[in-house]
Amino acid sequence: MKNQWFIIQTLHMNSLKKIQCAVIGCGRIGCSFDDAAKNRTIMTHAGSYFYNSKTNLVALCDVDKSKLNKYGKKYSVSKLFDDPNELFKNIDLDCVSICTHANSHLELVKIAAKNGIKAIFLEKPISNSLSNSLQIIEICKKNKIKLLIDHQRRFDPFFINLKKFVNNEIGKIQTINIIYGGGIVNTGTHIIDLLRYFFGEISSVNASLSQNPSSNSLDPNLDGKIIFKNKIPCFLQALDISHYGFLEMQIFGTKSVLKINLTNNDIEYRLVSKKPSLAYKTLEIKNLNFKKSKKSAIFLGVENLVTSISNKSTLLCTGQDGLKSLEGVISLIKSAKSGQSITIPLKITDYQISSK
Ligand SMILES: NC(=O)c1ccc[n+]([C@@H]2O[C@H](COP(=O)([O-])OP(=O)(O)OC[C@H]3O[C@@H](n4cnc5c(N)ncnc54)[C@H](O)[C@@H]3O)[C@@H](O)[C@H]2O)c1
Repeated sequence: MKNQWFIIQTLHMNSLKKIQCAVIGCGRIGCSFDDAAKNRTIMTHAGSYFYNSKTNLVALCDVDKSKLNKYGKKYSVSKLFDDPNELFKNIDLDCVSICTHANSHLELVKIAAKNGIKAIFLEKPISNSLSNSLQIIEICKKNKIKLLIDHQRRFDPFFINLKKFVNNEIGKIQTINIIYGGGIVNTGTHIIDLLRYFFGEISSVNASLSQNPSSNSLDPNLDGKIIFKNKIPCFLQALDISHYGFLEMQIFGTKSVLKINLTNNDIEYRLVSKKPSLAYKTLEIKNLNFKKSKKSAIFLGVENLVTSISNKSTLLCTGQDGLKSLEGVISLIKSAKSGQSITIPLKITDYQISSK
């Protein structure tokens, strides 16, 4: 009887035990995006763990001690480490966010796996090469680690519902336009992921250097054309976003046209008019009642990862998704460099993207 009581108490205590989390890399996405006083939405990994009722933010790690001290104070976290090995040696963690640049991801995943981590929230791009990305996926599989890649739109019910709408309501898709800036790796990995999420696998790409530059010479803007396996074409057009921020997806179906502002999720929806016309059918602007989510996408990502630890949810952006988005971007870069069309899948290579 006593034994049974003990088991029930232990189960109860375990269900109450919060998930112990840490953030490696206390830069913009790790911590500092939430610094803006006016900003009420949680935009960082640290903020997401801090405000989630099921998680405890117990430690921070960054090679830059000034950031450690700043965010240690902000989140009342006293366990601060400038070496990831020391972090894992000293703290028993369930979950870690890796918010450093892509060239360090594989090494940090190896350290986390060696120390028995259960879940990793890994910033995009998954890694700096396809071969390193594959290693990350294999390490996590072998060690039964839940691996979530931060292509955030997949966590957001707004995009989950929009995908259903696009797939069912707008007719046969004729063409897609993406207008973006900020570099083919930096912004492009998010774009390729969103395109795959909505329209399926890519079969080939063609790209060239854009005349409208990105602000990062190591991560140029490319213009290009993507063809999906289902033959839908998509045109990538780059802007110099130092003049104004802009990120838009335009989808032309046979029944309607959707323009989605990907920075604030505003939608413009135009439906083929039922009014009779002599020359050609016209489009009319209609209201589309898509609710924007109250919780931020990154906060929803942490919720997804946390519930996946107890197998209560499946991961919404897997290592394979991260790998495929990187493959799309590397294919576009290879095409721009060679002047040739590139067919996907690519062979797994050591070709490295610039990490910053
Ligand atoms: N998902 C998104 O929407 C989104 C947004 C911004 C950035 N990112 C991605 O997040 C990553 C980081 O970008 P950022 O803009 O936050 O960079 P950042 O330079 O602001 O921050 C990186 C931090 O990592 C620290 N660091 C580097 N190597 C380390 C190591 N080995 N151990 C501990 N700390 C280390 C640096 O000192 C720095 O503080 C990039 O891969 C970027 O693409 C994603």
